[in-house]
Amino acid sequence: MMHATEIIAKKRDGKSLTKEEIAWFIRAYVSGEIPDYQMAALSMAICIRGMHEEEIYALSLEMLESGTTLSWPEDDRPLIDKHSTGGVGDKVSLVLAPLLACCDLRVPMISGRGLGITGGTLDKLEAIPGFRTDLTLEQLQRQVQEIGCAITGTSRQIAPADQKWYTLRDVTATVPSLALITSSIMCKKLAEGLDALILDVKCGSGTSMQNVEDARSLAQSMVSLGSQMGVATRAMITNMEQPLGRMLGNAVEVNEAVATLEGGGPRRLRDISLALGAEALLAAGVESDFQAAESRLQTLLETGHGREKFAQMVTAQGGSLAAERKVAKATTLLAKQAGTITQIHAGRFGRAVVQLGGGRQELGDLIDPSVGIELCVEIGQEVEEGQLLARIFADDPPAAAWLDHLRDAIEIGPERPTLSPLIMEHITETGN
Ligand code: URA
Repeated sequence: MMHATEIIAKKRDGKSLTKEEIAWFIRAYVSGEIPDYQMAALSMAICIRGMHEEEIYALSLEMLESGTTLSWPEDDRPLIDKHSTGGVGDKVSLVLAPLLACCDLRVPMISGRGLGITGGTLDKLEAIPGFRTDLTLEQLQRQVQEIGCAITGTSRQIAPADQKWYTLRDVTATVPSLALITSSIMCKKLAEGLDALILDVKCGSGTSMQNVEDARSLAQSMVSLGSQMGVATRAMITNMEQPLGRMLGNAVEVNEAVATLEGGGPRRLRDISLALGAEALLAAGVESDFQAAESRLQTLLETGHGREKFAQMVTAQGGSLAAERKVAKATTLLAKQAGTITQIHAGRFGRAVVQLGGGRQELGDLIDPSVGIELCVEIGQEVEEGQLLARIFADDPPAAAWLDHLRDAIEIGPERPTLSPLIMEHITETGN
């Protein structure tokens, strides 16, 4: 006979949990026998104490087995997905799913909602009027077979344990944990029945992994789990020292993703989408040269094929790209001094979007898709006094003190900073 409090206490004291204890806890949580507050306590204990590889493996498999695993019709097109650990302004999935579908891959993308200070792909897509993120598994599979891609949420059938736990972690400050992120991402991805998986592990102040050592451990943990489960898994560690792209929020990020699919968009967003896409084409075995893979994807952006596929996906999921996506009234944030941008605290911007109503602070909070922030500068850029730093989209004008706090998140100094690379490391099965 097991007791929730004994298992929580065991982890609180830094001991390893057995496979049986993990299985019992997860099953009882999913069935409602264990309440949210006990799961919150266990989550915090795991966050602080961590888990060994065997515990993470057992946890991921138990979460996977809380639902079904998709099986697909015989088809020459490999099944692939890309997932990010979550970063401020990260809208790469919106760009990548249609691009990969254009390369004759099948992309059944099961995504998440905003988590902590990072926005969620589903919340962004729901800024498109009519867009449905609750496809049934039959609808998901039919759409992927027909048009090559779909982006939807977890359903009761796919990893229900994650669906329930994810929203709880979001509001209990229990997101940044190697064990919890690995199991949360991998249970959903393994349930998709993939041939290959690309992981974008974000590193920096705008994400859970703030230094490269932690990001590397997380990448290795997921790559190793995926490979053990027979999925060709690769990871890239990418820089999240500043938000990705100019736009943060839901409607504005959809607009930026569409601009990127039309061959425009901000350079760092385009570069990262192309690099992850190229890695995906290599993992799926449809290209063998990274540069050639990148230029194939670049062509799809320039010719508008990526945009066309995105529109096809939006229509298939009930949305209308042509319908207005409301963006709230803009308030400007101006520089108080001249100099060079030395730092942009991505985390503070992510939190600001949540506070404006673009993310959740409590379970059940409704998202306002029209709020957001446009960052008009990048690290390394020179600015004049009075120059536009950012635009804040909110119908209720933000308080002056709040704006000052945000202005302080953009540091201006006399010297040019050294810029860290956008793509920091590639992690493959062989460990490099
Ligand atoms: N994405 C997920 O699906 N889960 C996490 O825990 C973090 C990012």
